[in-house]
Amino acid sequence: MTEAEFTSRVFSGIQPSGGLTLGNYLGALKRFAQAQDQGIETIYCMVDLHAITVWQDPVKLRHATRELCAGFIASGVDPEKSILFNQSQVSEHAQLAWIFNCVARMGWMKRMTQFKDKAGKNAENASLGLFGYPALMAADILVYHATHVPVGEDQKQHLELTRDIAAKFNHDYSVDFFPITEPVIEGAATRVMSLRDGSKKMSKSDPSDMSRINLTDDADTIAKKIRKAKTDPEPLPSEVAGLEDRPEARNLINIYAALSDKSVDQVMADVGGKAFSEFKPMLADLAVAQMAPISDEMSRLMQDEAEIDRILTVGADRARAIAAPILKKTYEIVGLVGS
Ligand code: TRP
Repeated sequence: MTEAEFTSRVFSGIQPSGGLTLGNYLGALKRFAQAQDQGIETIYCMVDLHAITVWQDPVKLRHATRELCAGFIASGVDPEKSILFNQSQVSEHAQLAWIFNCVARMGWMKRMTQFKDKAGKNAENASLGLFGYPALMAADILVYHATHVPVGEDQKQHLELTRDIAAKFNHDYSVDFFPITEPVIEGAATRVMSLRDGSKKMSKSDPSDMSRINLTDDADTIAKKIRKAKTDPEPLPSEVAGLEDRPEARNLINIYAALSDKSVDQVMADVGGKAFSEFKPMLADLAVAQMAPISDEMSRLMQDEAEIDRILTVGADRARAIAAPILKKTYEIVGLVGS
């Protein structure tokens, strides 16, 4: 994310489906905070309407939404500088999604690989909401006329669909109304892999809690998980090229680089050739220094749910102030009668 890429408005969203990991922090939250601190207008959304495209326990959903809000703030997203809110409080998202349901084509939606993955073998039994998920995502972005959307590699196809929807709307109604959004795809370097298997992505749904660092882990747990992370018996290579075919070593080096804001080359210059018995305590110290304050801040924030709800409501009001006029104009373009 360089400064030049963000001359306009940044939007991104995360599903409150429970459990944030170091992967969410390095791949999304930390970058979101950095974009905000470059003085760019940033809008960050907890996409609860997306979460319910697969069944969510209501009590857990409420908790996960508040915890995600705490995670954003603890990671440096300042609700005064950024707009921080949950999607369902700004009904313009769902309203524009309906318009987009009428713009997007069945054939486009059927090609979405995430739908195929999530629906699995029994697609007939998937919710209609899951099928329409990408049209709601396009609405999230375009209801703010957002120009830049930082996401992971897995969301690339959805962003291409967002561009297609914007272009078809503009074409069908002979307007130049919705911007063609730029994806800002997270690089492979920030991809955090499992601590138990360097070929798998670090995931909140992995059965082994030792495979991940949760944003809610305390200092001792973080240090223990790094100490026990899977490695191979060789010391670290002296050069980056030596990390090839050593996914666990590569992952720990990547994490070190991302946490210390250094390049992999710089890190290798510092730690190349060291044994894991020497490198792991360095990584554990770094991870504890960076991550334990986040987990402390999250649990502090979670003690005052009313305050979190207040922050989300203020954010929703600010978001609606941008979204409402854009939706109104969209209704006019489409020919819906109203004041
Ligand atoms: N689909 C995104 C994901 O699962 C979440 C999301 C919903 C999103 N709406 C968005 C991301 C709009 C960016 C912009 O990661």
